[in-house]
Amino acid sequence: MSLPPNVITNDDLKKNGLETTNEWIVQRTGIRERRVTDAETASSDLAIAASLQALEDAGIDAKDLDLVLCATATGDYVWPATACIIQQAIGATKAGAFDLSAACSGFCYGVSTATGFIQSGMMDKILVVGVDTLTKHLDWKDRSTCILFGDGAGAAVLSACAPNEGVLSSVLGADGSGLKSVWLPAGGTRTPINAETFTDSASEHDTHLQMNGREVYEFAVKIVPQTILEALDKACLRPSDIDLLVMHQANIRILHSAAERFGIALDRLVVNVDRYGNTSAASIPIALREAADSGKLHKGDIVVTMGFGAGLTWGANVIRWTRDYGI
Ligand SMILES: CC(C)(COP(=O)(O)OP(=O)(O)OC[C@H]1O[C@@H](n2cnc3c(N)ncnc32)[C@H](O)[C@@H]1OP(=O)(O)O)[C@@H](O)C(=O)NCCC(=O)NCCS
Repeated sequence: MSLPPNVITNDDLKKNGLETTNEWIVQRTGIRERRVTDAETASSDLAIAASLQALEDAGIDAKDLDLVLCATATGDYVWPATACIIQQAIGATKAGAFDLSAACSGFCYGVSTATGFIQSGMMDKILVVGVDTLTKHLDWKDRSTCILFGDGAGAAVLSACAPNEGVLSSVLGADGSGLKSVWLPAGGTRTPINAETFTDSASEHDTHLQMNGREVYEFAVKIVPQTILEALDKACLRPSDIDLLVMHQANIRILHSAAERFGIALDRLVVNVDRYGNTSAASIPIALREAADSGKLHKGDIVVTMGFGAGLTWGANVIRWTRDYGI
């Protein structure tokens, strides 16, 4: 995992003139602080740092990778893919590289995609990176969005394992009718950013992340339990089999409601939203790294990852963990 060093607390936001309070943000979201990249740091910088750690941790040489798959909604450039920047920087000379755009579901989508390539026999070793620097696209005067997001990256190396180990099942879903529930309107081919379009405050507004928080919240509380149950069912497992629940970190209330729904004790629910806010595609791999470091993740554990976000998209993976961290 990799996070920028710059910490912005809720009080910092208030001090900068935002009409909010630490109490409101903590009570509604669970977020206390977030990490924010400086102007010189782009998504690939965080992604490369996380990728190098993942390779070292896995004991795998970058030259042995078949694919670099980067899940991001905030690539360095509109194109080419940020995965190519990572591929070159880490020396993955024999790997293909592409980006996957599924916003906060990106890491789950990436793990599912990589699993398919490996299970088909087409590839052996794949680096999956989840990275986002959404703070670059925030309107820091909009209190309904800017309080929520932070920057970060996480990476994992997936490789072939024995049957009934590793990724046991995957569920992916999407509902494009929710396109405008959380989105960034300008910068694509529908509304390119150029001297002609970028002329007034309305179009300037379109260059920032926009969200209907209530809509996204209602979508999340519905889709989270549904998707987890579907993924467990596909793996012939039940909620009581879950050793660790690693969900996308958007709001502590969504995390707690899922844990409560499945009778999961809070020590089996990984939380980092309090310290990093919503880091989008990075939140799940960061949570996995922290779970491993704090002794919560063991070989043989049933780990359920679940992500949801813009698109609207959602996804889950049920994993029988294959690594032993000796903690
Ligand atoms: C964004 C979110 C925290 C807002 O919480 P909420 O309970 O829905 O709050 P509302 O938007 O209804 O706003 C309630 C009031 O608080 C105010 N408010 C909004 N943001 C505020 C802030 N940062 N500080 C203080 N007050 C705020 C609103 O203006 C509103 O005031 P009003 O009642 O006078 O109109 C919540 O909807 C949420 O977490 N949604 C999911 C978002 C998400 O996860 N997005 C990413 C998906 S990957």
